[in-house]
Amino acid sequence: MNKRFYVTTPIYYVNAEPHIGHAYTTIVADVLNRFYGLGGSETFFLTGTDEHGDKIVAAAEKEGQSPSEYVDRISAMFRALWPKLNITNDYFIRTTDQAHRETVAQILTMVKDKGDIYFSEYEGRYCFGCERFYTERELVGGKCPDHLTEPQMIRESNYFFRMSRYQQWLIDHIHKHPDFIRPKRYKNEVLSFLSEPLEDLCISRPKSRLRWGITLPFDENYVTYVWFDALINYISALQFPDGKLFQTFWPVAQHVIAKDILKPHGIYWPCMLKSAGIEPYQHLNVHGYWNINEGKMSKSLGNVVKPLDLAGIYGLDAFRYFLLRDMVFGLDSEFSEEALVARINADLANDLGNLVSRSLTMVQKYFQGTVPDPGPPEEPDNRLKEASLNMIDLYAGFMVDLGFHKALMAVWDVIGQVNKYIDSMAPWELAKADRDRLATVMVHIVESLRIISVLIWPFMPSSAEKIQGALGFSRIGGALRLDDIREWGRIGASKEVSKSFQLFPRIEMKGKKESMKTQETETVTEDKGMISFEEFQKLDLRIGIIQEAETIPKSKKLIRLKVNIGEDRTVVAGIAGYYSAEDLVGKQVVVVANLVPAKLMGVESKGMVLAAEDETGVHLLIPDAETRPGSRIK
Ligand code: MSP
Repeated sequence: MNKRFYVTTPIYYVNAEPHIGHAYTTIVADVLNRFYGLGGSETFFLTGTDEHGDKIVAAAEKEGQSPSEYVDRISAMFRALWPKLNITNDYFIRTTDQAHRETVAQILTMVKDKGDIYFSEYEGRYCFGCERFYTERELVGGKCPDHLTEPQMIRESNYFFRMSRYQQWLIDHIHKHPDFIRPKRYKNEVLSFLSEPLEDLCISRPKSRLRWGITLPFDENYVTYVWFDALINYISALQFPDGKLFQTFWPVAQHVIAKDILKPHGIYWPCMLKSAGIEPYQHLNVHGYWNINEGKMSKSLGNVVKPLDLAGIYGLDAFRYFLLRDMVFGLDSEFSEEALVARINADLANDLGNLVSRSLTMVQKYFQGTVPDPGPPEEPDNRLKEASLNMIDLYAGFMVDLGFHKALMAVWDVIGQVNKYIDSMAPWELAKADRDRLATVMVHIVESLRIISVLIWPFMPSSAEKIQGALGFSRIGGALRLDDIREWGRIGASKEVSKSFQLFPRIEMKGKKESMKTQETETVTEDKGMISFEEFQKLDLRIGIIQEAETIPKSKKLIRLKVNIGEDRTVVAGIAGYYSAEDLVGKQVVVVANLVPAKLMGVESKGMVLAAEDETGVHLLIPDAETRPGSRIK
């Protein structure tokens, strides 16, 4: 892994409030930044706002504010949002900052001195939405492909950047550095664009038309084209040219963007850098679009998803996890709240949350909250250890290649393995029969969980820290490194483990839409006593494991059970005549989990255990193979 790491997001236009698309890019950058931090790299993470140009002036006018009042207000909104999403950027740049303006003027002078800027009259099709001229070839049906409007013919004298001069150099550079633009599909897109002659870039706007920009250092009557200004933020934030930050971090620069701004980043920017005599960035990482109802999100369509609303409802870590787990980096993804809830319930509440709560419960119950010393490991223990340790490199490999969903899948695979290990080792049985073995098993569970907690930290920092706190070790000021977890048992732990808790509560989708019913699922329900499939689906039936059982004094039939169904539940069952309390502990059962609670002989029962009755007595329903507690019965 690189010793140093520098990641940037696009600087966002301040003509709209932040939405889920901006949040995704910035969370990706944060995840990468935290991951490289774990790997021991010295890191720098930049985000900010892009504040010049026509668009901003128009947005300010609409709100009845001056451009400068307006940009101060919206930029502050972006700046205030990021900490709320647990984003840990090192610097926030604004293109209206004096230092940035000076760097832009400096680069323009360098490029001009190189002989790469010339003055010329130009007539072309200008899209005001994109703030740029379009060539005939780029238009779709005569319209701007982004704004679906016809560009206006404009004739104007302007300054041009001799971009064409760098076309062959750029093609060669991309071939020599196959990971320069990634994933591959975007590299190919840029190469395909470069297979046609590259036109020079118009880099000025006359002040008679636009005043809100950076004045050209060599002509008072013009301001700089907004993209030429904006791209330079990536080096002005590092105090180009003499700043230590620039020397340290520019050689390892990685930009994260979406496909909408591939051309300026994949073509203009490397050519600008080359002309100014600066090495190009290391990687351009390009992701796809979050769509809603198969279409683009837009203010006018009223389908903009606000990140804070979602994080507020579902929890910030769950929101971050969902974005990174559901989108394959590079491809488009469809956003839906249903998908978000399904992920939270399956991966977070069930798999991870359950593992954390049952592990802590067991250390409390069997070892009074102190992790015991292990005995000699056996075959299944070694297998779990190996899987947990192998996961580290597998995960790191995926992360470096931007395969976030694969990295998470690798972790969840091990979470599944630990859950299965618990089920098959059945610590509740060992507690009765073999306490030495129980200690070894317990240590293997806790060690795996420690490694898991470190690997999920870049994605879900607060939850990871909660687990680490509960396990008696913490990250303390960034001290933890990937290397610390490569050695089994090396993480310094106080061994004191906290009480069990629920990390991610299950979420019930309220008001499921009627439209979700399809023709096929509509059942004939005329027959009295029959229920429809939808009605059946309302039942929340789950596998549970009985952890405690005691007869209720003064009752002949009732037994109070503590059943783990992914969480601990007290359930009262009328089976005392058929089972002894002792026999019940450790048995797997089927529980109706969404029954309205009822008090029986003064004990509140939250659920019901299923059993069948015939002439030979009452028989509990038991799954025919060990099944993970909390599993849904469908
Ligand atoms: N100001 C320019 C960038 C200049 S960088 C030198 C700009 N700003 S923007 O506000 O329009 O931001 C575009 C970026 O926002 C995308 O590249 C992407 O990072 C993010 N997203 C905006 N909408 C998105 C989706 N629907 N889906 C995913 N990300 C998208 O362009």
